[in-house]
Amino acid sequence: MIVIKTRTEIEIMQEGAEILSQMFGYISQFIKPGAIAKDIDYYAEKFILQKNALPSFKGYHGYPATLCISPNEQVVHGIPGDYVFKESDIISIDGGIFYKGYHVDMAYTFIIGKTDELKKKLVNATYKALYIGIKKAVPGATIGDIGYAIQSYIESNNFNVVRDLVGHGIGKNLHEDPQVPNFGEPGTGVKLAKGMTLAIEPMVNAGKKEVINLKDKWTVVTADGLPSAHFEHTIVITENGNKILTTYKYIKNNNY
Ligand code: MF3
Ligand code: CO
Repeated sequence: MIVIKTRTEIEIMQEGAEILSQMFGYISQFIKPGAIAKDIDYYAEKFILQKNALPSFKGYHGYPATLCISPNEQVVHGIPGDYVFKESDIISIDGGIFYKGYHVDMAYTFIIGKTDELKKKLVNATYKALYIGIKKAVPGATIGDIGYAIQSYIESNNFNVVRDLVGHGIGKNLHEDPQVPNFGEPGTGVKLAKGMTLAIEPMVNAGKKEVINLKDKWTVVTADGLPSAHFEHTIVITENGNKILTTYKYIKNNNY
């Protein structure tokens, strides 16, 4: 069931999105060579609790942390542990908060120092694909229009979108209907309407689309070991288009 949000609910989600975006800005100062994943997670949790919000992921089906931190060949859902960031890594960080009864969700892939051409191209293409997808998320368009736009752009760059994980509706629950795949056919699937809130989140592999789950039950890695990138925004469908609720503008080492 798709839940259409009222103006008041959207205002609350906008407030939550502002806090979540500021949290990304806050942790971005610590993201550099030598940083340890679980320390970044600790800073994120502290920030969120201070703002009277809760981390959406912690405890979700038993997930043990505030953030998902996924370096290089990890696609998503990396559990922050003892991993030390090093020059040329790409690190996807995914975070969600629960604020005044509503979830918001976003992700960003950081480049640590200088990296190689392949990773740079991959991160850039994934970033672009997010906004290309968002542009299609307007009233009267369909879920398939979003996925088609993302997939075509990514494949024209000779990369591949992950099929096993998808974006989603979001609100009182972290995951609501509809699912928002990063692949599809134009004109197919649910028709978008004003008041729908969606988390659009392309996950893109430099190599093959296949992924594997690690034994920790969470970490998803590429089957071929090549790098993967992930960007995500929470958006709302408006009368004439959409509004992106989350923002990367507070991220200090933002490449864009
Ligand atoms: N952004 C991811 C998602 O929407 C984060 C979920 S991680 C989990 O699926 F730990 F909460 F599962
Ligand atoms: Co999400």
